[in-house]
Amino acid sequence: MSNKMWGGRFAAGPDAILEEINASIDFDRHLFAQDIAGSKAHASMLAAQGIITAADADKIAQGLDAILAEIESGKFKFSRALEDIHMNVESRLAELIGPAAGRLHTARSRNDQVATDFRLYIRDTIDGLDKSLADLQLALTEKALQYADSVMPGFTHLQTAQPVTFGHHLLAYVEMLSRDRGRLSDARKRMNENPLGSAALAGTSFPIDRDMTSKALGFDRPTANSLDAVSDRDFVLETLGAASICAMHLSRFAEEIVIWTTPAFGFVALSDKFTTGSSIMPQKRNPDAAELVRAKAGKIIGALVQLLVVMKGLPLAYAKDMQEDKDGTIRALSDFSVVIAATAGMTRDLAADEKRMKAMAGDAYSTATDLADWLVQKLNIPFREAHHITGSIVAKASAANVPLHRLPLADMQAVEKRITDDVFSVLSVSKSVASRVSYGGTAPKNVRVQAKRWFKKLGADPK
Ligand code: ARG
Repeated sequence: MSNKMWGGRFAAGPDAILEEINASIDFDRHLFAQDIAGSKAHASMLAAQGIITAADADKIAQGLDAILAEIESGKFKFSRALEDIHMNVESRLAELIGPAAGRLHTARSRNDQVATDFRLYIRDTIDGLDKSLADLQLALTEKALQYADSVMPGFTHLQTAQPVTFGHHLLAYVEMLSRDRGRLSDARKRMNENPLGSAALAGTSFPIDRDMTSKALGFDRPTANSLDAVSDRDFVLETLGAASICAMHLSRFAEEIVIWTTPAFGFVALSDKFTTGSSIMPQKRNPDAAELVRAKAGKIIGALVQLLVVMKGLPLAYAKDMQEDKDGTIRALSDFSVVIAATAGMTRDLAADEKRMKAMAGDAYSTATDLADWLVQKLNIPFREAHHITGSIVAKASAANVPLHRLPLADMQAVEKRITDDVFSVLSVSKSVASRVSYGGTAPKNVRVQAKRWFKKLGADPK
């Protein structure tokens, strides 16, 4: 059978393998709600402009509502022979309302139709993602407040550097997520223009009203260039770009959870709700969710690269290559939303071993900088010299195999005779973090102020 949509020019139907490679219904069926909303807006605009009759527009709207109900209830039969969501819907519309269905595609092409559907889909997805990201920020802020005073080793090069508070560490991710939300909302603002009415590539001779469809679909304005409108996928790329950066952040956090939960670290534990056992080693408790967050970040970044590569060789305007924008994107954004929810779940679940973290925080002479700062502040020694003196004292402590605060005063005085026992007041890890009150620093006091600021921003009360 030749095709219903373009059968006039074609005597025979497509080869089976063309049908196979051409069909996009398996993934663009996810756009059904947006496709139907776009068609309803288009039909009522056509009627308002006198391009089709009001009676036909009513029939079309009723038919489209019926189709929406069929799809939502799972009764709709999707056909691969009908290629994509647009032709599946239009063909069913013809079955339901007869010849009036044929008037819906006036002054429209699948090219502006799919560009519109996908913009609406991505816009809706961003709105959902933003809510989940705000919830994750809330989970992190709650934990941060709970652990505002808990001291842990801060690392650079993954080597113990200086003591920090666990609350401060968790709030670092709240900051990252705030930038992630900003990027998504920027993308949303830029994408909110209506391609509908660009038709195949050149616009149309029908007296359409693009402001009317823009308003009906919640777009800020119509797109200004029809060639750009049908061949632009920046809105997908920007969203995948923002999602990739965010997934990278969540992957770093996941990696930290993997490290922290390993018995060699033992900083935090996840409950039975967020760990799995081993089929052979009865003692094992594996952080699968964290590992999968880490892995899925790779797939999300992959979807971005995949679409960039698909797009980079395409001359204007639409090319069928662009149909391949949906599969990877829809999958990646759905993975992304699971990744966010799993991270929020782990965050709420995790319990810190505060004693162990504190003990480890004092390891490896982590308060050496505090000693150097004391020399500068109390003895007015230039920092570079203080650094040198401290290095010699650390070497002494290391040779005696004792932590800094256990090294006898006499041994310190052997290096710098003006040191007094006041120095011991800065050598404990708790004193060290309490002293870091510079704006943005790790002091428990700062963590409380920042946590409160975030609760306020997130419109939540501290629990
Ligand atoms: N399924 C197509 C897509 O997603 C719709 C547009 C088809 N346009 C065309 N000229 N064949 O890209």
